[in-house]
Amino acid sequence: MMEKLQEDLRINIDRLQKELLELGEIGEEDGGLYRMAFTEADMEARAWLQQRIADAGIEAEMDGAANVIGRLGEREGPAVLIGSHLDGVPNGGKLDGALGVLIGLECLRRIKEEGLETRLPIELIAFSDEEGRFGGMLGSQAVSGQLDPEQIMQARDLSGVSLKEAMRKRGLEPMAALTARRDPKNIAAYLEVHIEQGPVLEEEGLSIGVVEEITGLFKWSVRLAGVANHAGTTPMAMRRDPLMGLAEFAGEIPRILEEHGSAESRATIGKIDLVPGAANTIPGEIFFSLDVRDIDADKLEELHDGFRRVLSAIGRRRSLMFEFEVLSRVEPVPCSQKIVRTIEETAQRLQLPSMRLPSGAAHDAQSMAKIAPIGMIFVPSKGGRSHTPAEWTAWKDIENGANLALQTLLKIANLNPTELENL
Ligand code: HGY
Ligand code: MN
Ligand code: MN
Repeated sequence: MMEKLQEDLRINIDRLQKELLELGEIGEEDGGLYRMAFTEADMEARAWLQQRIADAGIEAEMDGAANVIGRLGEREGPAVLIGSHLDGVPNGGKLDGALGVLIGLECLRRIKEEGLETRLPIELIAFSDEEGRFGGMLGSQAVSGQLDPEQIMQARDLSGVSLKEAMRKRGLEPMAALTARRDPKNIAAYLEVHIEQGPVLEEEGLSIGVVEEITGLFKWSVRLAGVANHAGTTPMAMRRDPLMGLAEFAGEIPRILEEHGSAESRATIGKIDLVPGAANTIPGEIFFSLDVRDIDADKLEELHDGFRRVLSAIGRRRSLMFEFEVLSRVEPVPCSQKIVRTIEETAQRLQLPSMRLPSGAAHDAQSMAKIAPIGMIFVPSKGGRSHTPAEWTAWKDIENGANLALQTLLKIANLNPTELENL
């Protein structure tokens, strides 16, 4: 039974607010955040976090995948992990990932400040490249043993920069990422606090979302090749224009989702480059990204086939050559029902109304689901916006989410071995 002091423990919102604003300046350009994995800003943010962990009197470490770690309690044995990521998307917001990391730091610091003991050690972890600049979730895939040497050697971003060179440029040895693998028996549970990045909680007027499942996704890099030619002298019927191929492909998305997907399916073309890129030249090649999601693994498989068939048909019909590389494939995962209930009961004790919902965004928690029971707490996103500088959450919601995380963490870290067994 958790003693009274632990049940009454709360975070220091002024400190959390100050740190969120401070961290939010690292990588900021014209109001947007440019803190993509292994950029200078990303490394600066990790160093900043390591310093904050040390200032809290907790030993700060970095593992082979450059995940930043701080641990309270015994160095060995099963621990409860709380974390998220510091990297972001280009022109991103200040809370995606960063909120979960700093709430985790604040939880450890408050437990340490009050000299509280928990049965299990508690560990903060800030994972590398959650946004998948180099495919997807490098840090949490390394920890959960899902990273292979070939992936490390082959990975490159959509501009062609390889993971190897990006890591080596920061003095990191890429293959060392394999040493970040943890023994599943040493991870008792993983908890992540994250902004919802959607409109549901705000519409419901709730501070707290309890995630039941996390969407799966596949991400392609596609190349369509035709024949570059003169924009004025080439009759329309004689063109092999890859841009028209992409336009037809994009137009087919609603039908493919309807025929092969579900109401939870999503498909996005987020990046397009064409070559040579002159106004009076029919493009010879076009490169684009395709990000497709669904919370059902079978639907995701059907969508994968559906999109491949349509791409092939368009290539044939328009005499275009097509090829695609699967940059990442992440399976949908359920959260631990026990942890879902623990979060709900704790929210009730804190008089915080909550609702269950799926996550349409991918998270490190779904990598960690491979080796441990996971739970996620969502806080609302203003206007449902994310992956843009408009991304924000009201301080009261942040405080409620952080206090719920602290109390949930204390509850799980004090479970006895039998209770932990069935998480
Ligand atoms: O793409 C996502 O869902 C996450 O933000 N990485
Ligand atoms: Mn995120
Ligand atoms: Mn994100």
